Amino acid sequence: MTISLRIDSLSAWHDQFQALRDVSLALEPGQSLALVGANGAGKSTLLRLLCGLVPNWQGEITLDGKPLARGNPRAASSAGLALVPEGRLLFDSLTVEENLLVGQSARKGPWDLATVYTLFPVLAERRLQRPSTLSGGQQQMLAIGRALSANPDILLCDEISLGLSPLVVGEVYAALAQVRAQGVSLVIVDQDVSRACAAADQVVCLLEGRVSHQSAAQGVTAAALKAAYFGVATEQ
Ligand SMILES: Nc1ncnc2c1ncn2[C@@H]1O[C@H](COP(=O)(O)OP(=O)(O)OP(=O)(O)O)[C@@H](O)[C@H]1O
Ligand SMILES: [Mg+2]
Repeated sequence: MTISLRIDSLSAWHDQFQALRDVSLALEPGQSLALVGANGAGKSTLLRLLCGLVPNWQGEITLDGKPLARGNPRAASSAGLALVPEGRLLFDSLTVEENLLVGQSARKGPWDLATVYTLFPVLAERRLQRPSTLSGGQQQMLAIGRALSANPDILLCDEISLGLSPLVVGEVYAALAQVRAQGVSLVIVDQDVSRACAAADQVVCLLEGRVSHQSAAQGVTAAALKAAYFGVATEQ
């Protein structure tokens, strides 16, 4: 099953600080989106907000036309949203397998221990180990597997390739392509903009909390994105 996501005139605050300003975007069922922008642009704020982790916001967010509850992680998970958080945030007091079990929810879908292990065979080999004993790439795979275990319709991936070698980044993106083939929409935040765009239908750039660029991901030019990143005029 796939769902649509619609965000209209979204503003959000961390205490007094306004991190998102009048953000609007839409994701059609089965579509994927690359969310890019400089440090502090508001990318993580948007993903965390969608998962109920930023309670102070105004605007409208709907999933298949149903309003998303404010600041309610359980409701966000039930609605089909799951986060692969920046920094992974794995539970090191638990084993690999226990981290996957913690991610499970009441939602029905294709993802269980067996299918996550098929996607990432190395996690099956390491299932009794602590996350801190894994390589960075294996930890990222575990973070993806934990989020998938909730059987989301939309997987929100924050800084998906941060700190990983090019070879491992390729493996992670190959796995995401398989996830997408199962009908899961992706929202991908990655400093490697061309990688993220190659895996997406649409690209949205944030600049100081505002949407500074929005277009199809295929064919977007480096010059257009550079301007949107830094708020400078495009060179002619
Ligand atoms: N919990 C918080 N309390 C106060 N300010 C915050 C909090 N989280 C984020 N901010 C601020 O909100 C703004 C947006 O931060 P956010 O983490 O969403 O940006 P980002 O685009 O994910 O950046 P990065 O590329 O560095 O991960 C920044 O100015 C940041 O300092
Ligand atoms: Mg971030």
